[in-house]
Amino acid sequence: MALNIILLGPPGAGKGTQAARLVEEAGMVQLSTGDMLRAAVKAGTPIGLQAKAVMESGALVSDEIVNALIDENLAALSPDQGVIFDGYPRTAGQAESLDGLLAGHGRKLDRVIELAVDEDALVDRITGRFSCAQCSTPYHDRYNRPEVGGVCDLCGSNEFKRRPDDNEETVRTRMAEYRAKTAPILPLYDTRGLVARVDGMAPIEEVGAAIDRILAG
Ligand code: AP5
Repeated sequence: MALNIILLGPPGAGKGTQAARLVEEAGMVQLSTGDMLRAAVKAGTPIGLQAKAVMESGALVSDEIVNALIDENLAALSPDQGVIFDGYPRTAGQAESLDGLLAGHGRKLDRVIELAVDEDALVDRITGRFSCAQCSTPYHDRYNRPEVGGVCDLCGSNEFKRRPDDNEETVRTRMAEYRAKTAPILPLYDTRGLVARVDGMAPIEEVGAAIDRILAG
């Protein structure tokens, strides 16, 4: 059966890293609202024009915009494709909308995986992050380098990019937003028995193995 899971954690917790691995190894589909919004900014769409300054400040884009993006992307999937929600939901309003959107597309939420991390380590993780400009595979200057320097492991591209919001000041705002608006949705999922916690400070492979055990259980 196709699983629908949420990866939840502050900026830099490893949501994108683990989602990319699940896409590669388990054939799931990653729905990252951050990636969707960055694509809209790059394409200069009306949504992108609205979102650009908000994202650069580290604040949250409106629930209305991200809910519509998720609805549109869910509609494009076939029922046998499992979904990883990465960076969504981020507010109580989005969590409520997600239940309705999933039901509307004949799906239900199976698991919420919380990546528990030490916030002090996150600035270091985020400011060292880069990704392949071609296929978006995520890397880190110290913790997750390409096997051959300057060559993407997955697609072989020589071009890499860094995000404009990956600077210390913006990261602090993103963390404050997480504490104020996103962390409070965890207890809501906890009361539904959906939350499994993983130590996000462990090495990437160990975090992945812990997630795999939860999904197999
Ligand atoms: P978004 O793109 O979602 O960013 P984020 O939540 O801040 O998360 P990140 O992508 O920074 O972190 P991650 O957890 O994916 O970490 P990663 O795996 O890359 O959102 C950006 C902006 O868009 C928001 O600020 C907001 O404005 C807007 N937005 C998006 N969604 C929204 C929504 N739903 N509502 C409203 N606004 C929205 O890992 C980080 C680095 O650490 C990498 O280099 C990686 O290699 C390394 N790493 C990962 N795991 C480990 C490990 N275990 N050990 C060592 N290093 C590790």
